[in-house]
Amino acid sequence: MSVLAVNGGEPVRDKAFPSWPSLDPKDLELFESIYKSKVWGVGGSHVPEFANSFAEFQGAKYGVCVNSGTTALYLALKAADVGPGDEVITTAYTFQATVVAIMMTHGIPVFVDTAPDSFLIDASKIEEAITERTKAIIPVHIAGYPADMDSILDIAERHNLRVIEDCAQAHGAEWRGKGVGSWGDFGCFSFQSSKNLCAGEGGIVLMNDRQLYERLFSLHNCGRTAPDAEYGNIEPFGANFRMTEWQAGILLSRLTRLESETNHRHMNMRWLDGWFGEIPGIKVTTLDPRATRGGSHGYKAIFDSEEFEDISRETFIKAMRAEGIPLGYWYSTPMFRSEFLESNTFGEKLDFSDTNCPETEKICQSGLALGQNVLMGTEEDMEDIVKAAIKIRRNVGELKEG
Ligand SMILES: Cc1ncc(COP(=O)(O)O)c(C=O)c1O
Repeated sequence: MSVLAVNGGEPVRDKAFPSWPSLDPKDLELFESIYKSKVWGVGGSHVPEFANSFAEFQGAKYGVCVNSGTTALYLALKAADVGPGDEVITTAYTFQATVVAIMMTHGIPVFVDTAPDSFLIDASKIEEAITERTKAIIPVHIAGYPADMDSILDIAERHNLRVIEDCAQAHGAEWRGKGVGSWGDFGCFSFQSSKNLCAGEGGIVLMNDRQLYERLFSLHNCGRTAPDAEYGNIEPFGANFRMTEWQAGILLSRLTRLESETNHRHMNMRWLDGWFGEIPGIKVTTLDPRATRGGSHGYKAIFDSEEFEDISRETFIKAMRAEGIPLGYWYSTPMFRSEFLESNTFGEKLDFSDTNCPETEKICQSGLALGQNVLMGTEEDMEDIVKAAIKIRRNVGELKEG
């Protein structure tokens, strides 16, 4: 008789994990007060209040709220003076928005491999990718695991490059006790529905430099000068990339819960690291010791098929799902092989055939991921995840292909 649920056995669990976004009546109170105020956009107080509160939460001086994470990256690149033909170094393992934003400025993405057994840019390979056309580096804190900011900032300083942190998946994450997004010249976050702090859509750019802040403010608001400007109108070109009061209101309300939710996910992530570390075949990708808190937008691990009698990652995932665990994986191809990169915004052919990222190729084939909503679960929920993995390993013979 089969033991594994995928073959008809009893599943480890049939209970759902917490759903996302979570609901709280307090969000509604703010929503209603904004409705009644009749100030739903320009001139409202919630957008600047949220910009200041979130900047403070992440440890930065200034924030400019925008309408998406993609916009945040695009405007940061514009404020960093990235234009046609300029090169921007980034990781081969990311969501396409990181790269689309570079293309939107007519810049050229240059891809660097991920570190071995990691989902993050290999800082030791950045320097060899720098040319005289390089303007900026975009490290991506994938799933809230902070990239090596010490090395990246050191390289940027020596080569006079801007650093734009892609923190779309890293709310609450900390590097050496200080929030990500406050280390580079710009920190770009997304508030799209799946994110750990969300309003359906939205984004923010964090900065510490006053001049960059005023420039970015103008860029996002039709060239208008920031209300608290010290430098005057330094960027007359701009368009409407503004956030609404609705978004800011919901975000302000949800921000009051972000600290405890981040700690909860971080604790569960550590707990899973401990247990998965005991299961041969599931490689844990622990936080860098300098990363004092993970943003935990997801749980990441690496599947070693050899330790599971050569079953494929997909077979393992299917078996875990049958046991009631919503396991999956994220990006299945390195970004430089994306169709949209075949030509630039002027229609000229792009060629990434010399780009070689063997470590990214590997994790695209072997990466595992659990969503951040799963990390909002209880200790019992986490136990079920581990129980299911152990059950499958013990009974892997039932899954042997061919
Ligand atoms: C790494 C990364 N960068 C940028 C973005 C873009 O954010 P948005 O969807 O708000 O435009 C996302 C969104 O998923 C992302 O995951």
